[in-house]
Amino acid sequence: MRIFIDSANIEEIKAARDLGIISGVTTNPSLIAREGRNFRQVVQEIATLVDGPVSAEVISTEASGMVAEALELAALAENIVIKIPMTAEGLKAVKRLKEKNVKTNVTLIFSANQALLAALAGATYVSPFVGRLDDINHYGMQVIADIVPIFAQHGLETEVIAASIRHPLHVLQAARLGADIATVPYKVIMQMVNHPLTEAGLARFLADWNKVKDK
Ligand code: E4P
Repeated sequence: MRIFIDSANIEEIKAARDLGIISGVTTNPSLIAREGRNFRQVVQEIATLVDGPVSAEVISTEASGMVAEALELAALAENIVIKIPMTAEGLKAVKRLKEKNVKTNVTLIFSANQALLAALAGATYVSPFVGRLDDINHYGMQVIADIVPIFAQHGLETEVIAASIRHPLHVLQAARLGADIATVPYKVIMQMVNHPLTEAGLARFLADWNKVKDK
């Protein structure tokens, strides 16, 4: 399973990239708004930072507007992927963009049936939102558990991005279930890096070494 960072913050993206474990970035309008900067400038800057897909979301709600926005965004850099919301209009836009060789990431997916439709329309990626399902007392990871074998069984090439990741166990479960990618906030990436026993073990090694280093 690959890991993307779910962020529009340049410092977080650089820090995660420097760890050598990131193969893409996902943004959304809320993450971009948090940065308080021009949308296109942020997306363009992120696209130069990573060697991998960078998802940028359209704002239009009808297909022709989504396609027009998508073409503008896709022209910003070669690695831009267009995030399209999972609606009837979104499906139409995905199909048209596929015909124009523009890659899409269908977002706000909350069921395996939605993922199936997005894949049939020609999505490059689908993003089921695990954490938001957990928030309303559903078992979010079940959607990943359903989608992965369905896509395999029917030879659908669309990749599954486990999204709305809230903690390291989500990443572990997504990997176990065979998600292609998990898009992970910076805070959760660092929670995955750190372990109290690693910290304590390193402190003890260094302390022991310091006792004999001058002998
Ligand atoms: C995915 O692409 C979305 O940007 C993201 O994972 C949403 O996460 P949230 O539910 O924590 O906002």
